[in-house]
Amino acid sequence: MVLAAGEGKRMKSETPKVAHVAAGRSLVNWVLKAADGLGTGSTIVVVGHGADTVEAGLPSGTQTALQEQQRGTGHATKVGLEAVQGLDPDDVVVILYGDTPMLPPRVLADLARLDSDEALRMITAELADPTGYGRIIRDTEGRVVEVVEHADCTEEQLLIREINAGIYAARAGPLADSLESLTDDNAQGEYYLTDVVGILAGKGDRLTAVKAQAEEVMGINSQDELADARKSLQRRTNQALMDAGVWMLDPERTYVDDTVTVEAGARLYPGVHLEGSTTVGANAQIGPDVFAVDSTIGEGSRVWYSVLRSAQVGVDCEVGPYASLRPGTVMKRGSKLGTFVETKNTTMGEEAKANHHAYLGDAKIGARSNIGAGTVTCNFDGYQKHPTEIGEDAFIGSDTM
Ligand code: UD1
Ligand code: CA
Repeated sequence: MVLAAGEGKRMKSETPKVAHVAAGRSLVNWVLKAADGLGTGSTIVVVGHGADTVEAGLPSGTQTALQEQQRGTGHATKVGLEAVQGLDPDDVVVILYGDTPMLPPRVLADLARLDSDEALRMITAELADPTGYGRIIRDTEGRVVEVVEHADCTEEQLLIREINAGIYAARAGPLADSLESLTDDNAQGEYYLTDVVGILAGKGDRLTAVKAQAEEVMGINSQDELADARKSLQRRTNQALMDAGVWMLDPERTYVDDTVTVEAGARLYPGVHLEGSTTVGANAQIGPDVFAVDSTIGEGSRVWYSVLRSAQVGVDCEVGPYASLRPGTVMKRGSKLGTFVETKNTTMGEEAKANHHAYLGDAKIGARSNIGAGTVTCNFDGYQKHPTEIGEDAFIGSDTM
C-alpha cells in the first residue's frame, strides 16, 4: 500500500507532492517501481489531495482508494485497508509513503520477509540531521517501543538521530486492530500510523527494526529535497546506463529519464536532456546541449546543440548545430538537417540535405535532394496548411520560397 493522499504543503506548489517528477518518474511512481520488486501480491495507492492529477500519472490499471480528508497517515492506511478485499489476518501488508522515491527494491525484499511470530517490521535510519522525522524510542534492551513525531518530541527526544523511514511490513490482523485504537490527540491533530508501533509494542507483540542508509529512505517534503532526490536518482540511472556500456563525458551534467533507452556504445556529452519515450541507438553521438523528448535517434547518428520533439532520426544522420525538429519530422538514413533549420511534419529522404537556414513544414523531400540556404516550404497561406513535395535528386537553390 502506497500512501499518496497528502498535499505536501512544504512544496508550496499547485502540483500534489507525489506527482512531482524526478529523472522521468513521479515520486509515487518511483515508489511503485521499487514495490514491483516485491513480486507477488497486489498494490493499492491511497489518493486524496489532487487525486485526479495523481491518478492520471499512475501506471494504468493501478488500484486506488480515495481518502477524502487528509486526516493523517494512520487514517490513510485504514482507508486503504478497507478497500482491499479478502485479506487474511496473517497476510503481510507493506506500507510505503509516496514521497520516498530513493527506496531501492533490495530494502523492501528484506522487509517483507516477516518471521511467523513477527507482527511488524519497520525501516529506520541514522540521520546527521533528523529534523522533521519521527524518532525511534528504544527501551534499555534496545527494543523499539514507540515512534514520536518531531512535533511531539521532548527536548531530549529531539536529540535522537534514529528516525522512522515510513516503511513498514505488518500482519493485516494486528495492523487493522491497532488502527482502530488510534487517536488524533497530538501536536498535528492527525491519526498517525506511527502510533501503531507503540500500540503493538505495548501489547507485547514482536516487532523489529531494520536499518537502511540515510539516503535510501529520504522523504521529499520541499523543493530543495526534490532537487537532491533528482540528482541522486539521475546518478543511479546514469550508473545503470554506464554499466551497460553507454559513454558519458560528465554524468553529473547528463540528464536521462528513467523511461529512455540508450544502447551500448552511444556517446552522451554534457547538457544532454533525453526525456519520455526517447531511444538512442548504438554509437550515436548526442550533444553537447541537446533536448530530445519522445524521439528516436538511430545508430551512428550525430545530434548536437539541437531540440527534437517527437522526431525520428534514422541511422547515420546528422542534426545541428542549432536545428529544431518539431513533431512529425522523419529523417531517413544518412540525411542531414544543419544550422538554423526548422522542420515540422516533414520527411527527409535518404541522404537528403538541408544544411543551412531553412524552414521545411508539411514537406516530403526525396532521396539525395539538396535544399539550399534560405529555402522555405510556405505551408500556410493564412487560412490553410498546404503540403510541399520535392522529388529525388532535386537541387533547390538558395532563397527559394
Ligand atoms: C512521516 C512519518 C514520520 C517519518 C516520515 C518519513 C507519520 C505520522 N510520520 O512524516 O514518522 O519519519 O514520514 O518520511 O506517519 N499521507 C496520506 N494521507 C494523509 C497524510 C499523509 O496519504 O492524511 C501520505 C502523504 O502523501 C505522504 C505520506 O503519507 O506520501 C507521508 O506523509 P507526510 O506528511 O509527508 O509525513 P511526514 O511528516 O514526512
Ligand atoms: Ca514526508
